[in-house]
Amino acid sequence: MKNQVRICMIGSGRVGKNHSGIIRNNIPAAKIVALVDPIETARQETAAEYEIEEQYESLDQALERSKFDAVMITTPPSSHLPLAILAAENKKQIFLEKPMGLTMEECHQISDAVDRNHVILQLGFMRRFDPEFIHAYERIQGGEIGDPMMIKSNTHGPGLPAARWAQDLKTSNGMLSEVNSHDWDSVRWLMGANIERVYAEVANFKGASYNVTTENFYDNVLVNCKFENGGLGMISGICPCGYGYDARVEIVGTKGIMQIGTIEGEAIVVCNNRETGLIRPIVKTWPQRFAYGYINEISHFVQCVQNDQQPCVSMEDGKWAVAGVLAGTKSFFEKRPVYLNEIYSA
Ligand SMILES: NC(=O)c1ccc[n+]([C@@H]2O[C@H](COP(=O)([O-])OP(=O)(O)OC[C@H]3O[C@@H](n4cnc5c(N)ncnc54)[C@H](O)[C@@H]3O)[C@@H](O)[C@H]2O)c1
Repeated sequence: MKNQVRICMIGSGRVGKNHSGIIRNNIPAAKIVALVDPIETARQETAAEYEIEEQYESLDQALERSKFDAVMITTPPSSHLPLAILAAENKKQIFLEKPMGLTMEECHQISDAVDRNHVILQLGFMRRFDPEFIHAYERIQGGEIGDPMMIKSNTHGPGLPAARWAQDLKTSNGMLSEVNSHDWDSVRWLMGANIERVYAEVANFKGASYNVTTENFYDNVLVNCKFENGGLGMISGICPCGYGYDARVEIVGTKGIMQIGTIEGEAIVVCNNRETGLIRPIVKTWPQRFAYGYINEISHFVQCVQNDQQPCVSMEDGKWAVAGVLAGTKSFFEKRPVYLNEIYSA
């Protein structure tokens, strides 16, 4: 039997908790041995909930005092660069939450450090591991709908993230990154082509009612995309949408159409009142919608560490998603279409 992979979880926020629960409950091949977070109360609460024995204020401290094979970086985007570089330089295998970085320069620095130190890095694109997305991808590859011509991908999140960094474009790159990073990656994957140029429009409907006063904040975005293979696409983001977690994709090919996802959260349908009629539950949250995606992506990472293999989601995939975010942002600021090659290598 292969050795159990010893993981240091960095970050005890929403995703740190989600991934800690998944490892404890679903992945016997791995164990979280240490938790890092500078906020003591958050760290203690998460460590207690998920029975993590060691706790540290910083990755430096964990590296000095603990023994582990891999890190999972689930911290705000502005910390991804220093944490990924420190982990790589200490020969730790890396699972890095999206977005890879806030700028292309940060992404290139991360990939240089990973390559230089011969470690692996997997990006947290769990849709690549979601059974429905995989099935759709395989059926598109099998030619069932012909050549993909047009894709529409929407992600609408129920509530505004409470953390201030996530509400500020300067520290998060806004919703195009926080909510739509997954769309940037999956439209490119499903269409089998890079995005050539984008045009984005944003709007702010609910910010004031949530007391969000950060500069240029938006809660609705719509992006038109032209792919390098001639295909067309659209990405939409809304957060907070208020009604649930809604991540659906439609792909039209030369021979047919395919839809991925539904907003109906369970098969249960209730009728207890003639006035309201049938009641169907909605998907409420991202941990619910992508539960299997998260389990499968972390299992894949653990197997890659055990077998010294490259993950199937590459750093290039991470870079193209960041390039989409930056091109979309430039587009709505400058009110013009933006080519991704203006961004990618910068
Ligand atoms: N894959 C997904 O579905 C998904 C969903 C939500 C968020 N995310 C991404 O995950 C990351 C974290 O998001 P979140 O919503 O969990 O954030 P959060 O604000 O809820 O939690 C972040 C935690 O990181 C800690 N932290 C900050 N700097 C640190 C450092 N240098 N070392 C250790 N800990 C540090 C904070 O104290 C906080 O507890 C972001 O990059 C976000 O884009 C991914």
